[in-house]
Amino acid sequence: MTDTLTFTDGRTGTTFDAPIEDGTVRATALRQARASDDDFGLMTYDPAFMNTASVRSAITFIDGDKGILRYRGYPIEQLAERSTYLETAHLLIFGELPTQEELAHWAHDVTHHTFLHENVKRLMEGFRYDAHPMGMLISVVAALSTFYPEASKVDDREVRMRQVVRLIAKVPTIAAWSFRHNQGLPYVYPENELGFTANFLSMIFRMAEPRYCVEPALERALEVLFILHADHEQNCSANVMRSIGSSKADPYVSLAGAAAALYGPLHGGANEAVLRMLAEIGDVRRVPEFISSVKAGHGRLMGFGHRVYKNYDPRARIIKQTADEVFEITGRNPLLDIALELEKIALEDDYFVSRRLYPNVDFYSGLIYQALGLPTAMFPVMFAIPRTAGWLAQWLEGVQDPEQKIARPRQIYMGSDERDFVAIEDRGRAATVA
Ligand code: CMC
Repeated sequence: MTDTLTFTDGRTGTTFDAPIEDGTVRATALRQARASDDDFGLMTYDPAFMNTASVRSAITFIDGDKGILRYRGYPIEQLAERSTYLETAHLLIFGELPTQEELAHWAHDVTHHTFLHENVKRLMEGFRYDAHPMGMLISVVAALSTFYPEASKVDDREVRMRQVVRLIAKVPTIAAWSFRHNQGLPYVYPENELGFTANFLSMIFRMAEPRYCVEPALERALEVLFILHADHEQNCSANVMRSIGSSKADPYVSLAGAAAALYGPLHGGANEAVLRMLAEIGDVRRVPEFISSVKAGHGRLMGFGHRVYKNYDPRARIIKQTADEVFEITGRNPLLDIALELEKIALEDDYFVSRRLYPNVDFYSGLIYQALGLPTAMFPVMFAIPRTAGWLAQWLEGVQDPEQKIARPRQIYMGSDERDFVAIEDRGRAATVA
């Protein structure tokens, strides 16, 4: 027995060996198989990366079959119960939970970078009154690149870490101001005496009162939500962050790209889509009818299913408990009954059971955000705030990995063979544009 994959190319009858390392074979090992001398060599075809590891990572571990999620080895359940978001962000970025002294230093650094340049504020004021806050967040994060041109020195550790602190600190301010803009309310400046989540809630909700009083249970609920959303290994947006970063673009534009990927309804936009779906169903009695329409192929049950989790999303279990705690203070969200009924029916229905579709993190998070008083358009933004730490951890790992190069997939060309240019008057039919 050897740690080798032996395969025979049926076209030539030649047998090859490819070393197996960490349960993988290098795709380039297949290149030895050639049908002829001028053949490029065998490639793998893996649309949507269904079976391809693109990095070696020490940040987040997921076992989708067992429903396990760990950051740097620590189970998500323990972090959600005992940690804070800033502590978890430190863990993701630096690899270890901070000592008291490190945490004080880290919290001080982040707190003192929460302010935005006044020109950023003016830039935000230029958006239309009804601009989607996620579109604002993406654009403004990209614009920060022009405020900190030093960020382009991605090979300089000190410069890199300065941008990491800035981004973790400033994204909540941008997020809160995009909300205030949307509501036609004056922007609220950060308060240095408040903790990370309390400061965010103050920037969102403070009106005329001199000091915004945060309900401790809601502050803790938000900490838990932020911890649960902080990273999720090589998902669509993390892959974008790494991919843009692989060209040595600065972290602001890379993160703007990652946030754009998160915006889609199949990724972080799902929490927004869940709430729209629940509102559309409108009544518990209409749940069976809605389930039947999903099974008939008319749309998806948003907040259900996951590429990796085929058992249960461990984040969903914690969020459900957090939702109960929040509703005790805010009152029950009337859409909760529809969500519970959907979950009950779907978990018993063969369509969902056979496809291993379970509630994911987005199924209940939107209900909590709504109970906190946030409009649905803010939900993907609420996902992006904590995910900033994860994106940056992934980016830092990527830019320092000697095995990484600019990300550049291959393709299987399916277009026309070489053909000669035809003068416009000789073209018989209208061109079709894809
Ligand atoms: N409702 C109904 N059917 C579904 C759903 C769903 N939510 N998700 C998957 N399916 C079906 C799908 O139609 C397919 O059926 P069939 O084999 O008959 O064609 C089968 O299940 C496999 O689906 P897939 O699209 O091949 O699976 P995927 O791994 O490519 O997609 C997913 C994963 C999350 C995009 C998908 O489950 C989905 O669209 N869910 C709804 C959107 C959602 O909640 N997204 C949030 C993901 S968690 C937060 C995050 O990390 O972003």
